[in-house]
This record gives sequence, C-alpha cells and structure tokens, in this order.
Amino acid sequence: MKHGKGSIIELIRERSSWRSYSSEEIGADIEDELKTFMSRLPSPPFGSDARFGLVDAKVPERGEVLGTYGVIRGARKFIAGAVKKGERDYEDYGYLMESIILHATHLGLGTCWLGGTFRRSRFAAAMELGENERMPAVCAVGFRAGKRTVVDRIFRTGAGSAGRKGRDEIFFDGEFGIPLDENKTGPYDVPLEMVRLAPSASNKQPWRIVADEGTFHFFLTRSRGYDRLIKAADLQRVDMGIAMCHFGLACAELGLRGRWVGENPGLDVPGLTEYVAGWESMRR
Ligand SMILES: Cc1cc2nc3c(=O)[nH]c(=O)nc-3n(C[C@H](O)[C@H](O)[C@H](O)COP(=O)(O)O)c2cc1C
Repeated sequence: MKHGKGSIIELIRERSSWRSYSSEEIGADIEDELKTFMSRLPSPPFGSDARFGLVDAKVPERGEVLGTYGVIRGARKFIAGAVKKGERDYEDYGYLMESIILHATHLGLGTCWLGGTFRRSRFAAAMELGENERMPAVCAVGFRAGKRTVVDRIFRTGAGSAGRKGRDEIFFDGEFGIPLDENKTGPYDVPLEMVRLAPSASNKQPWRIVADEGTFHFFLTRSRGYDRLIKAADLQRVDMGIAMCHFGLACAELGLRGRWVGENPGLDVPGLTEYVAGWESMRR
C-alpha cells in the first residue's frame, strides 16, 4: 500500500484519537483522495469483503455531533463501513479501517475510532447496511480543533489513552510467560513497537505476540467482562485487526517480506486467550 511521502512508521507514531474538530470543511480535494483510497483497498489478511464510505454528520448549534452521545464535537464527516459476515470479519474490518485512518493522518486529518459511543442505527441506515453485513465501528474524521475539549480529556484519562503496556507484558519468546529479549528481535523490533502503539477499544491492548523461529503468532487475550460492556460488536477482535495492520504495513515499509498464515502452534495459553493468526517471515 502506497502512502506517498508519509512514512507509515511516522504516521503510526503521530496518530492519536481526536474528539474535537474545527468547523472547517475537509474540502473536495482531500475528500476525493480519501474516497479514492477507500475504493482501492487491497484484500485484507482473511479475505473478507468490505466497503467504506464518508457519511455526513449533523452538527447543531452546540457543536455536539448527533449520534455520538456528545463525545465528538464539531466533526462533519465520518468514515463508516460494512463488512460481509464471516469467520474473521471483525479482524479484517479493523485492518482496513486502520489503514484508512493512517491515510487520513497522512492527509493532515484528525480521527477517532468509535465502537461504543455512537448510535449504530443512524450510521447503518446511512450506509444501507445489508442483512449479511455488519458495521463493527465508525471513525470521526476532520481537521483538529486547536484544543482538546473537556470531554476528550476526560475520555483520555478514563481510558488511560496516553499509556501503553510494556513490551514484556505483550511480547513473548517461544511460549507465554517468557518475555521476548529486545536484542533477539532484529529488524522486527520496529514492527513490534508499531503493534504496541496501536489504538484499541478503551485502550485495553488485548494483543499478545509469541515469536517462534521467524513466525510471529498473534493471540487475543480478552479483557474480563468487556464483551458484556459492549454487546453490539466484538471490538477486541477489531483491535486484533488493527495490530495486524500496523505490523504488516511496518514490515512492508521496511522491506521485510512475509505472509499471514493460520496455523495454530498449539501453545499453552493463559486464560481468556485465543489464537488469531501468524506472520511468517520469508527469508531473502
Ligand atoms: C475498536 C475501537 C473502538 C473505540 N471506540 C471508542 C468510542 O466508542 N469512543 C471513544 O471516544 N473512543 C473510542 N476508541 C478510541 C480509544 O479509546 C483510543 O484509541 C485509546 O484510548 C488509545 O488512545 P489513542 O487513540 O489516542 O492512542 C476506540 C478505539 C478502537 C480501536
């Protein structure tokens, strides 16, 4: 995937969620670029069919955007999408939406994933969601307002958005429980760091990676009770797709060739943990 001059690795470092937007319209040129990018997305790792579009938001006088429970202020557009229901639909949706978000970041726009604080029915109607499709989340997009709003700051504090888990909590060597030594990751140090920096629902960071002889096995460790908190979508599977997106795009940028595989290595896993996929590096 080409991102022009913007390096993916820089864009990943630069991105953070924005919940307050300027009243300035995105403008036809940038809108066209986003739309073109969305229409030319490559097939995601598990091959799901998905479509994405820009949806207009109504912004009444007070600036709270309708359908976001007051969390987003001022945004006039949202990126929304629909993925065909299938075994790995949530992961593929996360993968594709995140690649669009990184492109929006490249275009100078602010973004915010919304998987919980948005009114699903409103966006589903705008996208004419079919029976065999789902819309796991949407994304606010626009020019950032100069300052974060109070609601934005409260949200960031509540989710602990500025922090991330340490590497020893999420990357393992051969089996769970043995931290991956930084000196052993070689050129994969940066793609791993890009996973660590990824956004996730409520900043839960549910991804775990076990490195094993050139393959990086991706696992999901669910947060207890989170599925009951947000019932409408399996957001932690969306998070896995986001992590895979960051890892895959960073590898591509660094010229590290590899492919996604689905061979469960059959490791002993901690509670609430399930296998998702593996990245198998191809030796040159
Ligand atoms: C799948 C997903 C769903 C999210 N849903 C919401 C949401 O409903 N409302 C919200 O304000 N932020 C939402 N977020 C944003 C996260 O809270 C945010 O990414 C996380 O706290 C890390 O902060 P950062 O994006 O600024 O790095 C969501 C993020 C993801 C990946």
